[in-house]
Amino acid sequence: MNILVINGPNLNLLGIREPDIYGKKSYCDLVDYLKTLAEKYNIKLDVFQSNHEGAIIDKIQAAYFNKTDGIVINPGAYGHYSYAIRDALAAVKIKTVEVHLSDISRREIFRHKSVITDLCVATFSGEGFAGYEKAIKIILGDEK
Ligand code: DQA
Repeated sequence: MNILVINGPNLNLLGIREPDIYGKKSYCDLVDYLKTLAEKYNIKLDVFQSNHEGAIIDKIQAAYFNKTDGIVINPGAYGHYSYAIRDALAAVKIKTVEVHLSDISRREIFRHKSVITDLCVATFSGEGFAGYEKAIKIILGDEK
């Protein structure tokens, strides 16, 4: 089982950016956490972060040609308005789960809307790092 984890813009600044919202753990801590999940579930995780919309789209397209089994995406702010990332996800038709560390429904109004939610089999918002584990479990089919 190959799962691609995509983290969008500014998530590389975890630990530095607004720690009251996103927590004190760094992006490296998130990557380490994801590595422990890969071992726990005996899966191959490709962990990718980019601040660039086009790079994220290229990665989603590559996932199609690599026969990736599932995508876990925290699109960052792009989730609120990137129809281009939405189109890429719609094109590849790979089982995708959306994750947000913070609870976007309880923040500014512009964050309440995600343009990818309806393409995703599930969304976890406001559960911190644990949201990524829940997302992986959905892709593995262990949890509804
Ligand atoms: C985020 C929420 C987004 O609104 C924000 O732009 C981010 C991070 C989250 O993980 O809570 O960059 O996706």
